[in-house]
Amino acid sequence: MVSRVIPVEPFDLVIFGATGDLARRKILPGLYRRFCDGQMPPDASIIGAARTEQDSAAFVAQVVEAIETFLPATKRDQDSLAAFCARLRYVAVDAMGEGGWAELAQMMRPDVVQAFYFSVAPSLFGALAERLHHFNIARQDARIVVEKPFGRDRETARALNATLAAHFNETQIYRIDHYLGKETVQNLMAVRFGNTLFEPLWNAQYVDHVQITVAEEVGVGGRGAYYDKSGAMRDMVQNHLMQLLCLTAMEPPARFEPDAVRDEKLKVIRALEPVAQKQIVRGQYQAGVKPSYLDDVENPASRTESFIAMKLQIANWRWNGTPFYLRTGKRMKARKSEIVIHFKTPPHSIFDADAGRRANVLSIRLQPDEGIDLRVTIKEPGPGGMRLIDVPLDMSFAEALGPEAADVPDAYERLIMDVIRGNQTLFMRGDEVEAAWGWTDPIIAAWEAQGTRPLPYAPGSTGPEEAAILMHQDGRRWQDI
Ligand code: BG6
Repeated sequence: MVSRVIPVEPFDLVIFGATGDLARRKILPGLYRRFCDGQMPPDASIIGAARTEQDSAAFVAQVVEAIETFLPATKRDQDSLAAFCARLRYVAVDAMGEGGWAELAQMMRPDVVQAFYFSVAPSLFGALAERLHHFNIARQDARIVVEKPFGRDRETARALNATLAAHFNETQIYRIDHYLGKETVQNLMAVRFGNTLFEPLWNAQYVDHVQITVAEEVGVGGRGAYYDKSGAMRDMVQNHLMQLLCLTAMEPPARFEPDAVRDEKLKVIRALEPVAQKQIVRGQYQAGVKPSYLDDVENPASRTESFIAMKLQIANWRWNGTPFYLRTGKRMKARKSEIVIHFKTPPHSIFDADAGRRANVLSIRLQPDEGIDLRVTIKEPGPGGMRLIDVPLDMSFAEALGPEAADVPDAYERLIMDVIRGNQTLFMRGDEVEAAWGWTDPIIAAWEAQGTRPLPYAPGSTGPEEAAILMHQDGRRWQDI
């Protein structure tokens, strides 16, 4: 089965920070893939903008190098690469000064979709927004794309929102959380709202608890300076895990439309109960074959966490009494992200006590090996009485849909095309981001006030032992990683 590609309208996309890491790794290779798939119209124009003085030819050479580095050979070829590069131009701009802006204005066309990707430090957002208006470049319907981190607490997020709001309406602002662009995350909504089977059971009456895990094998090497000021809470929980939690817990929106979905997500964040410190476990990875966290960030006194496990409660009718356990960390046993819904055991068993009693478990696997798995109880085959076992009803996307469909676009590819289409459904609204910080701020403030060190954990493990205990004391256990 081959996915249906709907071409987007002609556009001018300006990437500020076009020579930076994110542009090289994700944005430009992603645009190239969409070009190869025929989603980009022939007159689309991509304008790289950055401080470096260089001409378009030098920029094109960098883009080719980036694509060859970050895309496997099977996903690129010389002809399409040359055709894609014909769409690229470069302009050197001074974000804080006057240089290059008049030239950029000249490059923009009046009658195509206009988008500006701010792939730069948030401290430059204001200056860029001002200059786009001062030099009469951004139209009323221009779109701007901004990346995380969107602030480091509620106050800074609010200030950033105000800076952007001085020049753009909310409908023009696309705040990226790349987890929302992942194929399985959208499938979560398809599973919940496209089937009769799950939604009636999706509540505290039938769900015992929910586990959300985003485990990574990598450490923080290379990004130590940024990471040590953030930690797992700011880097992963406030955004990616919070978004997964919201999509799992939200009420059905009336339509799959931007504000309908975002209103429901916001309600979940607002219904989160404050978390007691004893319901949170923070960890820092130790040295193994590779250096420790402290060595990676070159800060022996660091109290920043590279692992978090926590238990949350959502104070509303649907979820009253059903805990959500969140867990994320670096340098763990494996790279694995999943949302797992543990249903309650049947209220009464008609079988003998020794037949066993089991609960259904629905796992939504984000990565690797995207797919959905539902464990159901059956009779163990063969003679010897009634013994119950659970078996998976497993839908691996690769197996069910064939290799072509399993080759799904990267999150960035999908999200950038959504910007061009003007669809904000998979982007965070300003109030959502502020509310998420409003929930994490007191937790972080309490850690800072206490000054406690995160617990050590072995690299390649599932985090500190205390994370397992957090579950055990509730009579539950984490899914294997
Ligand atoms: C980023 C975080 O937002 O997400 C990184 O800053 C993290 O620390 C990354 O590694 C994880 O993304 P993915 O798509 O590889 O799961």
